[in-house]
Amino acid sequence: MYARRVGSAWEVFAPAKLNLYLDVLGRRPDGFHELETFMAPVRLGDHLRWQAASAAEPSRFDFALDATTPWATVAAVPTGDDNLVCRAARLLADEAGVEPHGTFTLTKRVPLQAGMGGGSSDAAAALVLANAAWGLNYSVARLTLLAARLGSDVPFFLAGGSAVCLGRGEIVQPVRGLPCLDVVVVAPREGVSTAAAFQSLHAPRLGEGFLPAVSVQLSRFVARLQQGAVAAAWRLTVNRLQGAAERLCPSVGRVGTTFASVIGHAPLLTGSGSALFSVVHSAREARRAAALLASQKVGAVFATATCR
Ligand code: C5P
Repeated sequence: MYARRVGSAWEVFAPAKLNLYLDVLGRRPDGFHELETFMAPVRLGDHLRWQAASAAEPSRFDFALDATTPWATVAAVPTGDDNLVCRAARLLADEAGVEPHGTFTLTKRVPLQAGMGGGSSDAAAALVLANAAWGLNYSVARLTLLAARLGSDVPFFLAGGSAVCLGRGEIVQPVRGLPCLDVVVVAPREGVSTAAAFQSLHAPRLGEGFLPAVSVQLSRFVARLQQGAVAAAWRLTVNRLQGAAERLCPSVGRVGTTFASVIGHAPLLTGSGSALFSVVHSAREARRAAALLASQKVGAVFATATCR
């Protein structure tokens, strides 16, 4: 993830992600779940901008949603200090011993509670933006330690690119040599709480000594993708949270049935949902399927692609 200087402002693109593979191995003594996942960023994302405070109020620190953000999203995004952008900026400021300052403006495009990592990506973007705007020059490794305190997926977004993620998601192993995949994504109107989805799994308890390692199945999945054998990879994939998401949010099952009838095979859940996605053969096919799905009023529909 990179900050770009635009005049006196700084900007970052905060991509969404899809979990192309997600296994839950068990519940740890700290209450988090041990995961094994492969995540890819997509071209759909939020946009975060930082603008210096005015000369009259140089220490002013603000957060706002851009006026183009859809009203339903505006109502659902916390704009106070509990917003992940504010938390990330304050955490970095505390660590660096500076006063947080300037206005962070978020253009929100990624649906909430969809399993697409919107909030985590915004948090990573805020770290990158504040690091650049405040001239702190922290390394990615140093920012990553802060990122893991903000959320399990935040280090993935900071690293940029596709990756296998282990632990509670914060151990990021970048994967190169992947094709860009055209995808159709549907986010039902109802979201799923990540904490509730994990809790309802009743996963087996793991001992203190558990050592994260990539399984043979996930290694094969990644190798197939690198070879461009997407159909073969898909026969190996799983999302262990899909059943829990369907129980917690009936729209997931309903939308999944409609989705399958349009594309001819069952879609996969991303993260803890509620969004479902499918890999298709071309950008044209993605647009065609997205138009058909949008006409069925299933929720927010996107034709997009994974990034390398
Ligand atoms: O880390 P993050 O804040 O995104 O996680 C939200 C919640 O999801 C956690 O509080 C926890 O209940 C659950 N979770 C989990 N195991 C993970 C990641 C998240 O149990 N690996």
